[in-house]
Amino acid sequence: MDEYEFENLTIDQHGPLAVLTLNRPKALNALNSATFGEMSEALDLIVDNAEIGALIITGAGEKAFVAGADISELNGLDGVYAGREVALAGQDVMSQISNLPIPVIAAINGFALGGGFELALACDIRVASPRARLGLPEVTLGVIPGFGGTQRLPRLIGAGRALDLLLTARQISAEEALQMGVVNYLADEPLAKAREVAESIVKNGPIAISLVKEAVRRGLDTTLDAGCEIEADLFGMAVATADFQEGTGAFLAKRKPEFKGE
Ligand code: HXC
Repeated sequence: MDEYEFENLTIDQHGPLAVLTLNRPKALNALNSATFGEMSEALDLIVDNAEIGALIITGAGEKAFVAGADISELNGLDGVYAGREVALAGQDVMSQISNLPIPVIAAINGFALGGGFELALACDIRVASPRARLGLPEVTLGVIPGFGGTQRLPRLIGAGRALDLLLTARQISAEEALQMGVVNYLADEPLAKAREVAESIVKNGPIAISLVKEAVRRGLDTTLDAGCEIEADLFGMAVATADFQEGTGAFLAKRKPEFKGE
């Protein structure tokens, strides 16, 4: 993927793992519209590359994962329509991430505030440095989260704990985030830990992985009964794959499976 040049991010490929690094360290990797445009392009490249089985998203520099939407850009917004458009454009990229057929892991190396916290929430799994700080400071700026935070956070940790963070705007430590279930792992080297988690996922059947993601994502938006029906449909699709034959056959033959994603 070396031939692709971006201004506000980098993408590196290490075998089946891609790492997307937001790279505006002077602005603590704040998300401006140019960065969102590049993220969308980069995600298209990643999804089109059949070699890539997992994506890690992280931030450049020591200090921040992403310190939020770019406040200098937000400050120029005027009127209901302009605000709504900015939110929708950011939400599109967040949905592009959560709808990827491959697992996405946030390696939270520092501040994850506002839109940066929302970006982490759009990922499937979160690994944080013990130095990371997380929070939704939007109400201190007189706005509300606009990149899915008011929706994804309560789905992840429940309305009560989400409202506490949304209304007080308080920053939490990585340790508190772990206790709340906001992050899955704490690690001094979050990128290395994210790689380790990704490696443990990509050895499994890739179609099954994407179907698990789809079942959870679609099930969260519906009733238990409807969700179980979705699960049964997707289970049927999994059973119809060569990977299922390989996985069950390998178990019975007491050997390691070799999944082909077919
Ligand atoms: C633009 C930002 C920025 C941001 C930091 N910077 N956050 N620029 N947008 N979100 C810039 C600073 O202006 C500064 O630039 C440089 O990065 C370093 O930041 P400092 O504030 O000097 O660092 P420090 O004192 O260590 O404080 C770190 C910090 C603080 C606590 C993370 O920067 C901060 O509170 N940032 C804003 C966090 C925030 O409110 N995020 C939510 C945004 S609203 P200079 O040029 O002075 O060196 C949002 C809404 C999403 O995300 C939904 C929209 C639809």
